[in-house]
Amino acid sequence: MLIQVDLDRQQFHLTNGQVSYIFHVMKNGQLGHLYYGKALRHRLDFSHLQTYDVPTAASCHIYADDPAFSLETIRQEYPAYGNSDFREPAISVRNPNENHVPDFKYHSYRILSGKPNLEGLPATYATAEEAETLQVVLQDAFLQAELVLNYTIFRDKPVITRSVLLRNLGENAIIINRLMGASIDLPDKDFLMLHLVGTWSRERHIKERKLEAGIQSISSIRGASSHHHNPFLALKRLDATEQHGEVYGFQLVYSSNFLMQVEVDHYDVTRLTAGIHHYGFQWELNPKESFQTPEVVMVYSNEGLNGMSQAFHGLYRNHLIPAQWKKEVRPILINNWEATYFDFNEEKLVEIATSASELGIELFVLDDGWFGKRDNDTSSLGDWYVDKRKLPNGLGSLANKINATGMKFGLWFEPEMISPNSDLFRQHPDWAVGVPGQSYTLGRNQLVIDFSRPDIVDYMYNRMSAIIRETNLSYVKWDMNRNMTEAFSNALPVHRQGEFFHRYILGVYNLYERLTKEFPHVLFESCAGGGGRFDPGMMYYAPQAWASDDTDAVERLKIQYGTSLAYPLYSIGSHVSATPNHQTLRTTPLQMRANVAYFGTFGYELNPLTMNEEEKEEIKKQIAVYKQHRALIRDGQFYRLLSPFNGNETAWMVVSEDQAEAFVGWYQVLTSANPPKHKTLRLAGLDENRVYEVCGKQFYGDELMTIGLPLPTEFNGVNGATAKRGGDYQSEVFYVKWVENTSI
Ligand code: DGJ
Repeated sequence: MLIQVDLDRQQFHLTNGQVSYIFHVMKNGQLGHLYYGKALRHRLDFSHLQTYDVPTAASCHIYADDPAFSLETIRQEYPAYGNSDFREPAISVRNPNENHVPDFKYHSYRILSGKPNLEGLPATYATAEEAETLQVVLQDAFLQAELVLNYTIFRDKPVITRSVLLRNLGENAIIINRLMGASIDLPDKDFLMLHLVGTWSRERHIKERKLEAGIQSISSIRGASSHHHNPFLALKRLDATEQHGEVYGFQLVYSSNFLMQVEVDHYDVTRLTAGIHHYGFQWELNPKESFQTPEVVMVYSNEGLNGMSQAFHGLYRNHLIPAQWKKEVRPILINNWEATYFDFNEEKLVEIATSASELGIELFVLDDGWFGKRDNDTSSLGDWYVDKRKLPNGLGSLANKINATGMKFGLWFEPEMISPNSDLFRQHPDWAVGVPGQSYTLGRNQLVIDFSRPDIVDYMYNRMSAIIRETNLSYVKWDMNRNMTEAFSNALPVHRQGEFFHRYILGVYNLYERLTKEFPHVLFESCAGGGGRFDPGMMYYAPQAWASDDTDAVERLKIQYGTSLAYPLYSIGSHVSATPNHQTLRTTPLQMRANVAYFGTFGYELNPLTMNEEEKEEIKKQIAVYKQHRALIRDGQFYRLLSPFNGNETAWMVVSEDQAEAFVGWYQVLTSANPPKHKTLRLAGLDENRVYEVCGKQFYGDELMTIGLPLPTEFNGVNGATAKRGGDYQSEVFYVKWVENTSI
């Protein structure tokens, strides 16, 4: 039993031995928060955790005879604004005809085995054995509305998920201005706030700052979760490290406008709220309708940031990605984008595929430019018909030729976009998001299609499913290259335009749902100009995402390291590309490019026909290495060892769950003259009592974790014959293997 309910005291305790989450019904009928953190033993009464007994001179209070009972000083579970709490609320709803302060009071609860799906939205899933769900129902009698607060606790993970459903039980419409997925009041502010920031080609860099009084937040109002702020936020104790200390991690399973906000009040209480961004949001909820918020995932770790990341990774690997991909190894792919851009024909593609197949690559992906008359990025989005000038025999014939080389075939789409210069736009100008007759703001010369309209989603479903069938497709790269402006739908009345962004993403999810259900064998990779929509919402349908358009190995250290805070390795699309790198013009060794790309879903983004024999031999070896380790990359526990945000060196490793093997990556960006001679790399996650072999030498696990793995000698100006490495951009990967029945 993971959920304990004390009906007399109206207390709820969710615990699985790793975390505890405790709240109760307060005397005014609202829910008060009592505790969230490391598991506590269950006890008869937790009311001592409610600490509101001292009245303050300045606060407003609800009861004349209890001046201490002020919502301003009480920690709450799902706060509203308007009766004594002056912090930002989780909910703001109103009856359009009458004045009223939201006043949702406890009504009932139920406990479900497992985890119910969220209507129309991606969310984590669990069987009856894996989780329990507590649904607490609150009602507002005046508004004639009901809130259902969902809490799911996973049996073997330090994870609780939350979401909220608002149901209109009355005769009148209700206007929703804000409805967050979760709100939580932590008792102090002694945290660093960690989050992932960036822009195109520089996604998910780690930022941290100390919490201060006032509001600090991350958000997107771009119509996508964005390159700029990932919907992830962690609160880390000041003394917590990668391996030790308390960390709370929060993530939204959502791909559109979001807000994750931390408000530190004047009593140092930290209020975290997460959900759909309220800016411009307004939803008309008619009688009998309900509104479901996206899910918030909450992870508690007392094993530092690594503990938090491992909990997210395990959750997403086992309870978020489509079930059919959990135990499948994913194909090593080659993508023609950086090899050809828009300049290709059937012959060139088949030549690339043939050469790639000889190297051991398993999937050929035809990127942008195969449809309409798309010779550059100024036309044809929406015209999802093959360009016979480039591919005169059609896609089916190309697919057959690719398959004949022994490779699977994959295709790029950007279904949410329309070029002003396209047949589709000429036929349906009203399909574009915007205001007909007003000028449109372009992004990459294109407009966004109105996915809030079910008829358009149907149209795209028909087009894409026909192509998937015709080409016997194995893979789809679903791109989305611009953010939204003039965000209006021609199908919504003026007073309902506040619903546009959410309706749009529901349309995207709907198309993903239909395609992934109908074609479960097709691997979907999400993409948005690189990593502009790298979020758990997308991962529910597409188990991997193109991490960034930046394929430079040095840049990728930061991008992949930052991404790993929340996302499992096997979701991070990472490819080896040509040099000089197309985004930075930097030239790094082929070895380093692969050594970085191994720690993700591996592939190539180059033209093998331009490579010499030596390079091709090296690529063959790289492919063999990845094939050897990809199940470990998929299933293993990931440890960050050295951060690229702290210095010249980066290191990370992945350890099998049985601790029998590990794969380690080490990288040094710049060299120095006459460098240190005794460098080691301290590993993590091994069994300290076992003997491991690495580079032909044997060590105990504790030696590797306390003294470290000796790094090969570096060129120092005179040891040229014996130095194993030298120059800038050095890297090594190490395979660590348990030697059974051995002592040394
Ligand atoms: C942006 C993607 O991130 C690239 O990989 C490539 O697919 C281009 N779009 C094609 O237009």
